[in-house]
Amino acid sequence: SPPPLLDKFGRQVTYLRLSVTDRCDLRCKYCMAEAMTFLPKKELLTLEELEFVTQAFIRRGVRKVRITGGEPLVRKGIMSLFSQLGAQLGQGLEELTLTTNATHLSQYADGLARAGVRKVNVSLDTLDPARFVDITRRDQLDQVLEGIAAAKAAGLKVKINTVALKHQNMDEIPDIIAWAHGEGHDISLIEVMPLGDTGEDRFDQYVPLDMIQQQLEQRWTLAQETERDPLAGPSRYFRIRETGGRVGFITPLTNNFCAGCNRVRVTCTGRIYMCLGQNDHIDLRAPLRESSDPAKALDEALDAALFAKPEKHDFSIHSPGQAPTLPRHMSVTGG
Ligand code: GTP
Ligand code: 5AD
Ligand code: SF4
Repeated sequence: SPPPLLDKFGRQVTYLRLSVTDRCDLRCKYCMAEAMTFLPKKELLTLEELEFVTQAFIRRGVRKVRITGGEPLVRKGIMSLFSQLGAQLGQGLEELTLTTNATHLSQYADGLARAGVRKVNVSLDTLDPARFVDITRRDQLDQVLEGIAAAKAAGLKVKINTVALKHQNMDEIPDIIAWAHGEGHDISLIEVMPLGDTGEDRFDQYVPLDMIQQQLEQRWTLAQETERDPLAGPSRYFRIRETGGRVGFITPLTNNFCAGCNRVRVTCTGRIYMCLGQNDHIDLRAPLRESSDPAKALDEALDAALFAKPEKHDFSIHSPGQAPTLPRHMSVTGG
């Protein structure tokens, strides 16, 4: 069988994050600017091309595929990609999932479950309608909460993602955790990463998560989970004794987790980014479209990409008005 995707540091890539659009119906202040220039539609890989690329990764040992954006559920026809990829489950692919802002989830939850999706990660930074408008620049909290409820009703396991923001939700984080656990959802807290100009000062948003953890330990008893799912992302999980639920910490700034990296990202234009925190990428679209043997050309491009995968990211936020570490917005690679 074809060789696994191993990098120079001995890490194997088993997790593909596939961004299917750079567009989004929200404008979260840590992710996008209000005025964004999106890619013209003709630049995008077709759904068939996205599937073909994903198959190439599955042949090389990828066992988990996460569909991301922008907001993946705004891509036209997206359910056909979920159905096609869902048919691969049990044949190399073990997990098909997505990260969504949930504004369209009530419409798609049943279809996702039918396609074979078992879990969904939902971005939600506040339960307060006014704060939701302040953070996302849109008035859609009700749709999001309906989307989350629909996912639960469809039998999907929901994980909430909450970016910790100094002035906008830090004081609310215990309440968000209590709500999530009450609903039966795990939750991960995330340190804001300095990618892309969003028109906001990241220094003013950033909170190191050890501060939040101390705040939580005043109220609850946290026990670190010792077992790690080999297909999981960077969250370090703790179980809260009083709520019974899990809270994860994603700490790209205060606690580098790159030694355990198992993933690469592919954008909606067919670029592979070997690391979220770096700009190196390799084009897969030209080999896919122009080679007489696209499967072989893709394989060669994957080998080149894996060889070039960097050891780690290096984010920092240390002063007001600091320029982003990378000019690229988070929505290009879907986080
Ligand atoms: P699970 O599959 O549920 O473990 O999810 P995940 O944490 O891998 O994915 P999700 O899309 O929910 O992302 C949560 C946060 O983790 C986002 O802010 C991502 O940008 C961040 N994240 C995921 N992978 C990486 C990574 O390799 N490096 C960095 N710096 N951040 C990452
Ligand atoms: N820093 C940290 N997390 C971010 N996300 C988007 N932009 C950033 C950023 N600058 C998160 C979203 C979503 C996930 C895919 O990435 O909240 O949950
Ligand atoms: Fe959209 Fe997600 Fe970015 Fe918010 S974080 S603007 S929901 S892509």
